[in-house]
Formats: sequence, C-alpha cells, structure tokens
Amino acid sequence: MNEIRRGTLQEQTFYEQVGGEETFRRLVHRFYEGVAGDPGFRAMYPEEDLGPAEERLTLFLMQYWGGPTTYSDNRGHPRLRMRHAPFTVDRAAHDAWLRHMRVAVDELGLSEEHETTLWNYLTYAAASMINAPD
Ligand code: HEM
Repeated sequence: MNEIRRGTLQEQTFYEQVGGEETFRRLVHRFYEGVAGDPGFRAMYPEEDLGPAEERLTLFLMQYWGGPTTYSDNRGHPRLRMRHAPFTVDRAAHDAWLRHMRVAVDELGLSEEHETTLWNYLTYAAASMINAPD
C-alpha cells in the first residue's frame, strides 16, 4: 500500500506499479539469456561479456518508465537511434530482438494492462530502431 493518509493516495509511476528495479532487472536479464542462446543474433553484440549491455538496457528502461535517472547520469541523453547506427538493425534483427523480449515480458507475469502498455512501447521502439533495408 502506498497510502500515506486517507485522501492522499499517491500517483505511482509505471515503474513503481510493475515492481520497480527488480522487475526491470528480471526482464532484461531474461532477454539477454535469450540473446546468449541465439548465436546468430548474439554476434551483433560486440562485447564478449553481455553484462554491461544488460546493465545499460536495464537502466535505460528503468529511467524511461519513471525510475531513477542513473542511465542518463552515466550515459547522457539516450539518442537511441544514433547509438544503434553502428549496428545493422534490419527486419531480421528487429524480429529477433522482439522475439527474445517477448519471452522475457511473458515471464514477468504482469497484469494484462501493464503488459500491453509495455509491449506496445517495445514494439514501437523496436520498429523505430530499424536502420537498414532487408
Ligand atoms: C530493434 C532491434 C534492436 C537491436 C538489433 C538492438 C541492438 C543493440 C546492440 C547491438 C547494442 C549494443 C550493445 C551495448 O553495447 O549496449 C544495443 C544497445 C542498446 N540498445 Fe538496442 N537494439 C534494438 C532495439 C532496442 C530498443 C527497442 C531499445 C529501447 C527500448 C534499445 C535500447 C538500447 C540501449 C539503451 C542500448 C545501450 C545504449 C548505450 O547507452 O550505449 N534497443 N542495442
């Protein structure tokens, strides 16, 4: 309960509503487990250790949904399209990214409303990241 006093029920951010940091850590950890088990797609990620990439995506999503701004404190403005420019994000990469994310979202067991909100954002954001023709 977030009620401090009757009549002062505070508005929660989406971040808080879905369980805060722990939920985003679970989401992105599961996502990168999928990436690690998909050699073709894994090859897109330049670093041998996926841990730092996992941390960046986790912090970005936490910030995006109303959590702490640690991502921008460390990395500056997200400029995600620009940051993806070094990588060939074509339809196949887009589909693989979303496939791994779908598994991770399903395993969170969110309410239908929260799940739809999160998934709509992820699909929209993934489509906007495409930077190469098929
Ligand atoms: C559409 C398919 C996508 C592909 C193939 C892709 C691939 C990649 C790759 C290869 C990296 C570099 C790994 C790293 O060093 O961090 C990266 C970074 C990142 N991606 Fe994506 N990505 C996709 C979509 C998205 C979407 C939809 C989001 C946000 C909702 C996102 C957020 C990020 C973030 C925050 C980083 C780290 C940026 C930084 O601070 O350097 N990506 N992505």
